[in-house]
Amino acid sequence: GTVVLAYSGGLDTSCILVWLKEQGYDVIAYLANIGQEEDFEAARLKAEKLGAKKVFIEDLRAEFVEEFIWPSVQANAIYEDRYLLGTSVARPCIARRQVQIAQQEGAQYVSHGATGKGNDQVRFELSCYALFPEVKIISPWRIPEFFNRFRGRKDLMDYAKDHDIPVPVTPKAPWSMDANLMHISFESGILENPKTHAPADLYMMTKDPQASPNIPDVLEIEFLKGVPIKVTNVKEGKSKDTPLEIFCYLNEIGGKHGVGRIDIVENRFIGMKSRGIYETPGGTILYQAHLDIETFTMDKEVRRIKQGLGITFSELLYNGFWYSPECVFVRDCIAKSQESVEGKVQMSVFKGQVYMLGRESPKSLYNEELVSMDVQGDYDPCDASGFIKINAVRSEL
Ligand code: ARG
Ligand code: SIN
Repeated sequence: GTVVLAYSGGLDTSCILVWLKEQGYDVIAYLANIGQEEDFEAARLKAEKLGAKKVFIEDLRAEFVEEFIWPSVQANAIYEDRYLLGTSVARPCIARRQVQIAQQEGAQYVSHGATGKGNDQVRFELSCYALFPEVKIISPWRIPEFFNRFRGRKDLMDYAKDHDIPVPVTPKAPWSMDANLMHISFESGILENPKTHAPADLYMMTKDPQASPNIPDVLEIEFLKGVPIKVTNVKEGKSKDTPLEIFCYLNEIGGKHGVGRIDIVENRFIGMKSRGIYETPGGTILYQAHLDIETFTMDKEVRRIKQGLGITFSELLYNGFWYSPECVFVRDCIAKSQESVEGKVQMSVFKGQVYMLGRESPKSLYNEELVSMDVQGDYDPCDASGFIKINAVRSEL
């Protein structure tokens, strides 16, 4: 049979490619460009050299931003109050194209290099089954013949040498990374001890706030239907207005000022706790900006219900249920709630922080006269006495 392998160009998936061939499969290598730093042409040559029957290198950056990151921004998606889900949100995007390639090439199998202990195996496979129910999935890290043969990096290196697989020349960082447009995550290796501090040189997308500029950048982000349509650097007068450019520019400014670093212990779907370090510069700026414009333009009670849906959405996303009926339903509800979420937010980005400066909107529900301490507005303060008395009934009992 033919198998479409989600290939990264790294040691693990290179060994998997050759191992699958040894098992008698025709292998199609598929490498998704979701904004990670990578020499994609070198990866293509490598996969060809290892015997891939075909190689697909797919630039998914624009659809990743518009169809996966934007709905997460609308939802204020955040897992366990801190993690902005940068890895989780990439998986349904990668899997969707993988399945399309399998169907187009008449392949019955798909394969990936996720371990048997993590979230990613669940996300990939739930996505594949939802989009291509008849697909057969080969998960080498859950197959005894595979994981008993490759018990560590040494075994992979030896196998690579024996099979003419180019081995990495740069020494491996003592942790595992996952990078895309939205974030870089760091897990395992020396980070497995939750008490161990991350070394200062681990971070790749963000500058250390201690060494970041002493002058803030002032940004204006314009939203329509809960997604950014324009970002302007107010002092420099320059702006971006396509989704991909907007997101990349926010990464640049956030990174320059050290925004979006977190170090957390989280709960995997599989049941265990794991320690992770994440950098999400642009995503952190957008999270703050969106919360601000949303509260400004959305009815109080709608917001309360929508906030609950956002938590549900975040858990579904983390657990790999992007293509489930309930997640589609929740996304549609959230999108509906965003119809009037529009306007401009001004903010300063400085020393690892985002500071709100002001906001304006044609859909604002803020009534300056109503709230003013200086003007009466359409409001009788005497009404508040009864309101308070009745609310006190239960306390008085
Ligand atoms: N713990 C994070 C998550 O589950 C990051 C996972 C990183 N994945 C990886 N293959 N290194 O979303
Ligand atoms: C992996 O297990 O492949 C990475 C970690 C995770 O998916 O949670």
